[in-house]
Amino acid sequence: MSASAELKRITTATLQKLKSSGEKISMLTAYDYSFARIIDEAGIDVILVGDSASNVMAGHETTLPITLDQMIYHASSVVRGAKRCLIVVDLPFGAYQSNGDIALASAIRIMKETGAHAIKLEGGEEVLDSVKRIISAGIPVMAHLGLTPQSIYKFGTYNVRAKEEVEANKLQKDALIMQEAGCFALVLEKIPAKLAKEVTKRLQIPTIGIGAGGDCDGQVLVMHDMLGLNKDFNPRFLRRYLDLHQQVTTSVSKYIEDVRSGNFPNDSESY
Ligand code: KIV
Repeated sequence: MSASAELKRITTATLQKLKSSGEKISMLTAYDYSFARIIDEAGIDVILVGDSASNVMAGHETTLPITLDQMIYHASSVVRGAKRCLIVVDLPFGAYQSNGDIALASAIRIMKETGAHAIKLEGGEEVLDSVKRIISAGIPVMAHLGLTPQSIYKFGTYNVRAKEEVEANKLQKDALIMQEAGCFALVLEKIPAKLAKEVTKRLQIPTIGIGAGGDCDGQVLVMHDMLGLNKDFNPRFLRRYLDLHQQVTTSVSKYIEDVRSGNFPNDSESY
């Protein structure tokens, strides 16, 4: 058997099994070949090619400007790097909200042009038609409720969502609607841990939390944030596993010093 045949790909069914057996699901974002390869080889269950690429890769203030073509570029790079995990790609703002036909066309482009395995989109009942059309074409959909960054101008802030009863009740209802429509998983972003726990208990499909407490079936973080590349972003939910900003700064400073002093390259680094 070839080495590649021995690698067993994680699927949406694997995530369902993990929920059933009470094992937690790990998910991280990635946007390029090199990091996707490292993260995949480290054993992650799911890579999300998030529209947070708009922030961390392109430097935009919000996720709204990133285009479908740009998401396809990032996703196809990730697919070339990750051989084992499930790869989910965000449908960007404007690619699915207007109607089911447009949503399906966007999702088909992602699947055909990137080789990824599923799409994610934000919202509840408002996007039900789009969700149903995409799933009816055989494309797995991950839903996303709570703080949905594509609606930042409606919310006005990045504060915790669904603290009030009305919004919490709508979130519970939307979660059931998304499950009923056939979504294979649900991201819960920045909502009270108690609400996330209730939703997780009520749903058969796995929940993946970000700022939603420890009772979700899995967790997701933006890779740049957990590796400490972005020193200005310090929300309470973020755990930094590395201070890459500091380490890169130190390494680059040393390189500059070595070039300027003539210490690099030395004889053994020359032909
Ligand atoms: O775009 C993204 O990175 C996301 C995660 C924060 C869930 O949607």
